[in-house]
Amino acid sequence: MANGFYVSKFVAFVGFFFAVAAAATIITLAVVYSNEKSKNVQNEGIASNAITPTGTTAKPMTKTPASNEIWDKYRLPRNLVPEHYNVDLRPILTKNEKGLYIFRGVSKVYFTCMIATQYVIIHSNKLNYTKDLLLTDANNNVIPIKKHFFAEKTNYLILELNEQLQAQKNYILSTEYDGELADDLEGFYRSEYVEDGETKIIATTQMQALDARKAFPCFDEPALKATFNITIRHKPDYVALSNMNPIDVSNETWNAETWQVTKFAQSVKMSTYLVAFIVSQFSPAGNETVKANIWGRKKAIVDEKQGDYALDKTGLILEFLQDYYNYSYPLPKSDQVALPDFSAGAMENWGLVTYRDTALLYDPNESSIGNKERVVTVIAHELAHQWFGNLVTIRWWNDLWLNEGFASYVEYLGADYAEDTWNIKDLAVLNDIHRVMAVDALASSHPLTSKEEDVNTPEDISALFDSITYSKGASVIRMLSSFLTEELFKTGLQAYLKKHAFDNTVYYELWESLQEAYDNEANRVYLPATIGDIMDTWVLQMGFPVVTINTTDGSLTQKHFLLDPTSVVNHTSPYNYTWFVPISFVTNSSVEGHVWLTQETGMNSSFHLTGDNDWLLANINVTGYYRVNYDDRNWDRLLQQLENNHTVIPVINRAQIIDDSFNLARAQIISTTRALQTTRFLSKDKYMKQQVEPLFWHFNTTTNNFKDRPETLTEQYNEINAVSMACSYGIAECEQLVTELFQEWKNTKINKIHPNLRSTIYCNAIAQGGEDEWNFLWEQFNTTTNAQEADKLRAALACSKEPFILNRLLEYSLDPNKIRRQDTLSTITNVANNVVGQNLAWDFIRANWKTLVDNIGGGMSFGNVISGVSRRFNTDFDLQQLQDFKKFNTDNNIGFGTATLTLEQAIEKTRANIVWVKQNKDAVQNWFEGAMGHRDENTHI
Ligand SMILES: *[C@@H]1O[C@H](CO)[C@@H](O)[C@H](O)[C@H]1NC(C)=O
Ligand SMILES: *[C@@H]1O[C@H](CO)[C@@H](O)[C@H](O)[C@H]1NC(C)=O
Ligand SMILES: *[C@@H]1O[C@H](CO)[C@@H](O)[C@H](O)[C@H]1NC(C)=O
Ligand SMILES: *[C@@H]1O[C@H](CO)[C@@H](O)[C@H](O)[C@H]1NC(C)=O
Ligand SMILES: *[C@@H]1O[C@H](CO)[C@@H](O)[C@H](O)[C@H]1NC(C)=O
Ligand SMILES: [Zn+2]
Repeated sequence: MANGFYVSKFVAFVGFFFAVAAAATIITLAVVYSNEKSKNVQNEGIASNAITPTGTTAKPMTKTPASNEIWDKYRLPRNLVPEHYNVDLRPILTKNEKGLYIFRGVSKVYFTCMIATQYVIIHSNKLNYTKDLLLTDANNNVIPIKKHFFAEKTNYLILELNEQLQAQKNYILSTEYDGELADDLEGFYRSEYVEDGETKIIATTQMQALDARKAFPCFDEPALKATFNITIRHKPDYVALSNMNPIDVSNETWNAETWQVTKFAQSVKMSTYLVAFIVSQFSPAGNETVKANIWGRKKAIVDEKQGDYALDKTGLILEFLQDYYNYSYPLPKSDQVALPDFSAGAMENWGLVTYRDTALLYDPNESSIGNKERVVTVIAHELAHQWFGNLVTIRWWNDLWLNEGFASYVEYLGADYAEDTWNIKDLAVLNDIHRVMAVDALASSHPLTSKEEDVNTPEDISALFDSITYSKGASVIRMLSSFLTEELFKTGLQAYLKKHAFDNTVYYELWESLQEAYDNEANRVYLPATIGDIMDTWVLQMGFPVVTINTTDGSLTQKHFLLDPTSVVNHTSPYNYTWFVPISFVTNSSVEGHVWLTQETGMNSSFHLTGDNDWLLANINVTGYYRVNYDDRNWDRLLQQLENNHTVIPVINRAQIIDDSFNLARAQIISTTRALQTTRFLSKDKYMKQQVEPLFWHFNTTTNNFKDRPETLTEQYNEINAVSMACSYGIAECEQLVTELFQEWKNTKINKIHPNLRSTIYCNAIAQGGEDEWNFLWEQFNTTTNAQEADKLRAALACSKEPFILNRLLEYSLDPNKIRRQDTLSTITNVANNVVGQNLAWDFIRANWKTLVDNIGGGMSFGNVISGVSRRFNTDFDLQQLQDFKKFNTDNNIGFGTATLTLEQAIEKTRANIVWVKQNKDAVQNWFEGAMGHRDENTHI
């Protein structure tokens, strides 16, 4: 059979081994985890489908030679410091004679000269100045401009003056300009949607990181905070929003038409990347008490009330955050807007947060429990930034990890407050810690921090929006909060916000505030060093340790954990790859404790076990960012305990034992059979199918043949998992359920499938079906008005087993009339995740690489396309293809956009897979044959 269809028995075993940790975790944990969720994970910033669209140039990662002119440097000189901006914009939502949508701008920048200079250097990108630039001093005297010019590469407008501007004096630069309102999702941009058969246009913004300069000339660095007076001119049947409330609305006549002029109150002091304004025909759902509004398409908000859930939770989350930060919400209002076209998942613009439709709107009739969870966590994340990030801002992008890591941690706390029956905090281990450890265990990983001087170009900055920044950031902050105690962490955090409000910081200033709080606390926990010294070991060196606890003699050792132990680490570490490791533990006799491992090795009498059945479990609830290994005797006893009565082990640690052991086996620290043994407790007799079948019948019975929903969040996720696993293991009743539900929908045109089950049912129906089913779903995709439903349908379209259908979908992914640009990347990745589609996607990517790099290669998560397609690579042939791909695109100067590092990681991972498969295939095969008896030749895994 053609490559990719036939999964031999052996490949199935290996595939099973690679997949089992995750799969077993799903079953073990009575906590949330679903396929649906993992398909949808896209945080703001690291949206898995974040892209820059066609038309913008994604530059290869080549550095231009250094030059000595100040305007050739990416960082602004510090001669001039902005105080205030007046920005007055008129977006014209009809095409001009050249077929372009444009906006007209009038701006004044008020700045102070700190160091005398003959140049005004200010960011400006793709703005056409339509009137002479005017520079004046505070007394309105005109300062003559000798000439002005642009520095393309660094996006500067440069004014050369006859005389120097003087230190401590104030100046004003006045400009008038035109800009294009392109559909490029950057700066001030245009987005379209269809409502009641009519195409409607929105003008909206996405400034982070470097695109405020595309809307108005500005000193576009986060540390150069200023106040803003924003005025927006628009047609009266549109509404304008900005960071602040409108203070004045009047009419004017322009081009013989009536236009409305909406003036907004002067903003608080803020960074340019947080400025936002939107002109739309959206409708609000509002709550006067909390001064919050949810905006979106009229149909969604007014007719279908899809904003109500977000509105309800916003009130609760703001309440939680004001208490957590001990600081009132810093602005007079909070608007949150659902946009049909948006590159990231959401963006925390101060007072005017923007979201993808799917991350804000919730429709009980169409949305699944996973959609709901995403809405509440993304809102909590963005609102957490309104203080941490917006009120107190990083000085430069190199500290992005602090900003994003913090919000990615606090989102769980806020969501937990808003949905207090969900146990949502348990998800951090699966969604962040275990997920990012997979990347951070590679020799090609990188430390959380970068030096300020190493982050300059737009590509440097884009590359920072990765899973290390978000998920490792969240993991180490969670660890810090946990070892300090949450109370003390809060006290220090509150002092930090108060001290630095409306200002900028570098990461260690948070440690300083926490240290102060610690020093002032009489009743404090023991720490082996200052908070700064402890945290430096986690943020200045990449990776994490595996801690080996030997209960025979009570010794502990730590070692840098590398998935491939033979890989060469090029980064040198200032700490020689040792960490300050906080170790919480519990024993079979319920003795709990906490110790620190501060060097490579240590000894602790608590870890020396003497009783015959004594065991010890470390890293309780995986609050520490590390893996744990034990001596053989302790492993045996832990596994015995799991088999006898697994409920004694905390639920998160059951997942940890499996995940740690499989990863330790991959890294050749423990034997493969040991890892496989950890999954034995999942099932007393045989394997997955036998495990899955009872689960399927359990839900079948308790939910009245999947007509009702289980009560708790956990059970709802488990129901989804049961159906999804049962179908993928070919259980006939599951296939029948899918066929019946799908055919009923197809025949009656009425969709009675519960939203929770839709992703799974759709996907299996397409996998089982042919072109007819696929065409039906494609039609549904084109007609649905619900973005979450559209995502479910689009994901299912990639489940086909027919290569010609998958190739069709791949072609569609590059056609913006068929699939929105924001969804190109995730569509290709969906196909790659399908066993049948993996090679097709890989061929497609290689054939269209230049187009992909040109169109979307500068986007923040472009690397996903490489990691997605190479996920299962484990042969020399795969490795050769990756290396040829690298060589060809390097030699031909096409490059890899922001996927450069991901490609290195994919090569490293493939190498590790090859080595592992060679060394372990016999052991895995023997173990399975012993444990499972006979399996079908053709099992798809
Ligand atoms: C700005 O000028 C360039 C070069 O003349 C032109 O291609 C572009 O369309 C102009 N943009 C606007 C918004 O007028
Ligand atoms: C502005 O014009 C619109 C439409 O012509 C009208 O409804 C509105 O009352 C006017 N507003 C003011 C402040 O004059
Ligand atoms: C900005 O707007 C405020 C009103 O919100 C006004 O008092 C102030 O003068 C304006 N600043 C400038 C420079 O126009
Ligand atoms: C507005 O928010 C407050 C505080 O969360 C809540 O008590 C109230 O019920 C909300 N009102 C509406 C109309 O939703
Ligand atoms: C644990 O300690 C015992 C006694 O010192 C030693 O024999 C054994 O090799 C150690 N095991 C591990 C895994 O380090
Ligand atoms: Zn964020």
